[in-house]
Amino acid sequence: MSPSKLLFYLSPVFSHLLVLTMAQTNLLEHFCIQNHGNFSANSDFKSNLDRLISSFSSDTNIDYGFYNGSFGENIDKAYAISLCRGDKKPETCRSCIKNSSQVLSQLCPNQKEAYIWYDDCMLRYANHSIFNSMEFGPYFWMYSLFNVTDEKEFSEVLNALLGRLINSAALGDSRRKFAAGNATAEISRQTMYALVQCTPDLTQPQCSDCLNQAIKLIPTCCSKRQGGRVHYDAATISNGYAKTQLYIVRTATANVLLVFLWSLQHV
Ligand SMILES: *[C@@H]1O[C@H](CO)[C@@H](O)[C@H](O)[C@H]1NC(C)=O
Ligand SMILES: *[C@@H]1O[C@H](CO)[C@@H](O)[C@H](O)[C@H]1NC(C)=O
Ligand SMILES: *[C@@H]1O[C@H](CO)[C@@H](O)[C@H](O)[C@H]1NC(C)=O
Ligand SMILES: *[C@@H]1O[C@H](CO)[C@@H](O)[C@H](O)[C@H]1NC(C)=O
Ligand SMILES: *[C@@H]1O[C@H](CO)[C@@H](O)[C@H](O)[C@H]1NC(C)=O
Ligand SMILES: *[C@@H]1O[C@H](CO)[C@@H](O)[C@H](O)[C@H]1NC(C)=O
Repeated sequence: MSPSKLLFYLSPVFSHLLVLTMAQTNLLEHFCIQNHGNFSANSDFKSNLDRLISSFSSDTNIDYGFYNGSFGENIDKAYAISLCRGDKKPETCRSCIKNSSQVLSQLCPNQKEAYIWYDDCMLRYANHSIFNSMEFGPYFWMYSLFNVTDEKEFSEVLNALLGRLINSAALGDSRRKFAAGNATAEISRQTMYALVQCTPDLTQPQCSDCLNQAIKLIPTCCSKRQGGRVHYDAATISNGYAKTQLYIVRTATANVLLVFLWSLQHV
């Protein structure tokens, strides 16, 4: 099947992502970087970091879900970035940043560099500048228990949809680089929903590059079940969609988020 036979819908603010838009507060993954230095609980670095991140979660002017900043002087200067999923409300975003910073400070109590991903946001900090830096960084991916039956059709729909979404997200401005959409396979009528997002400090080519690199993880992660982690998505069980088999994959790196869902039955 050629991509032109797929039905595409793209929209900048996407509200039909079914389970992907359900209220979720799951911690997905975190990394404490062990060899980039430690700080002590009463250090200036720690107090700078705390002030910086609390300034994110209390900033009511930002409504586009991207927070970036630095605080402090010299060796005690802290740098942080937070990115919320592009379809999240500002209040949800701030609440997610607040929660993730609290949890991260327990999980990584003294590392000068750390990352955390929740359903709704990601937060990372370091003792060096991380703004405008394209890095693949640590990454993770998760998938649901269901297997794809027709891998050929799945790949065709996925590649075509993600290709379009990536172009659309990369064209975003310095505040938001996000796209979500769906594609329905013409023959099986199965629908794929996806969202892709870059931190908006990346340039257009950097954003496409990073997302394309993240896509390359998909065959490793998801068609062969090696490594990675099974994704028990609470929402798929709790909101009635459990009757519909959904194949869900999430992946994220330092700069990108990618989620897709393939409904194994017509919804
Ligand atoms: C796909 O997205 C479009 C545009 O947002 C929406 O109107 C349509 O209902 C969606 N299709 C499905 C099957 O959810
Ligand atoms: C960050 O901390 C590490 C370890 O303490 C140190 O080697 C490095 O120089 C620091 N980086 C900056 C930019 O201060
Ligand atoms: C930093 O702390 C971790 C434990 O939290 C320890 O394993 C590591 O050796 C420490 N690194 C340095 C450079 O002190
Ligand atoms: C992001 O933070 C860096 C470092 O503090 C700063 O140079 C840059 O101007 C900030 N950019 C935005 C868009 O806030
Ligand atoms: C933050 O944590 C509170 C308390 O656990 C919870 O009610 C809220 O839903 C969380 N918010 C997000 C966005 O995860
Ligand atoms: C998916 O495929 C794997 C590997 O072939 C198999 O072990 C697993 O039981 C399958 N899961 C389902 C829900 O059919």
